[in-house]
Amino acid sequence: TVRRLAAPDIAARKGGAPIVCLTAYTAPVAAALDEACDLLLVGDSVGMVVHGLPNTVGVTMEMMILHGQAVMRGSRKAMVVVDMPFGAYEASHEQAYANAVRIMKETGAQAVKVESGPTVPETIAYLTKRGVPVMGHVGLRPQAVLMEGGFKAKGRDEAERAKVLEEARLTAEAGAFAIVVEGVAESLAREVTEAVAVPTIGIGASAGCDGQVLVVDDMLGLFDWTPKFVRRYADLKGEIQRAAAQYARDVRDRSFPGPAETYYAKKA
Ligand code: KIV
Ligand code: NA
Repeated sequence: TVRRLAAPDIAARKGGAPIVCLTAYTAPVAAALDEACDLLLVGDSVGMVVHGLPNTVGVTMEMMILHGQAVMRGSRKAMVVVDMPFGAYEASHEQAYANAVRIMKETGAQAVKVESGPTVPETIAYLTKRGVPVMGHVGLRPQAVLMEGGFKAKGRDEAERAKVLEEARLTAEAGAFAIVVEGVAESLAREVTEAVAVPTIGIGASAGCDGQVLVVDDMLGLFDWTPKFVRRYADLKGEIQRAAAQYARDVRDRSFPGPAETYYAKKA
């Protein structure tokens, strides 16, 4: 049996070989990614890329648990981290703990992730002291989209840079084993990476981080938007359209199913 990577394995990679991370939401995709990736993130981006929500605010605990279970079933060696959704961890430490434990018990994932807003480092300390491995998330925080009026890159002025740097410091000091850094300029990503003792995993945050993460549907060309930071490694939407169009032609001209795809009764 294969031992799954866990928080200490990822934490130990600070400054070493870059950590390879992608999001995953389903068992078959997790199975296909497991070999290449150190870490599979069941991101609350699932609400947007799989369920068609306009942002991640509507994502529920039940959605995260169902997708977390699927990714755990599909993968064997990669560490699996499940996002805590909006509304699941900021009411109180007790609420955060109860929801984190529910995710860990019901999915078997090795850690949870929270977006490190102003009140969150205290929550991270509460969770990690009680045995819940936590990943932080600073810079652009998608769960704050309705406060901010959109998805905007962070750290364009000095005050904002200082805020992101401070949130990263507090997140690491609170016991997070790694920190996602999203949507920041290269100089800030490098500053954050130097300032914290745990690995930074960047998305739209330059090559200056200790690892990289992308939303899998973005890099596979399944989701219809291409921000500057995404590199497309496949055109799965094009492949699906091509396959569906060919299937439609074959059905309409009755060339599908053919003899090889047809059951026949035994001849008497
Ligand atoms: O939800 C998500 O996919 C994420 C990653 C982009 C870091 O939080
Ligand atoms: Na997320």
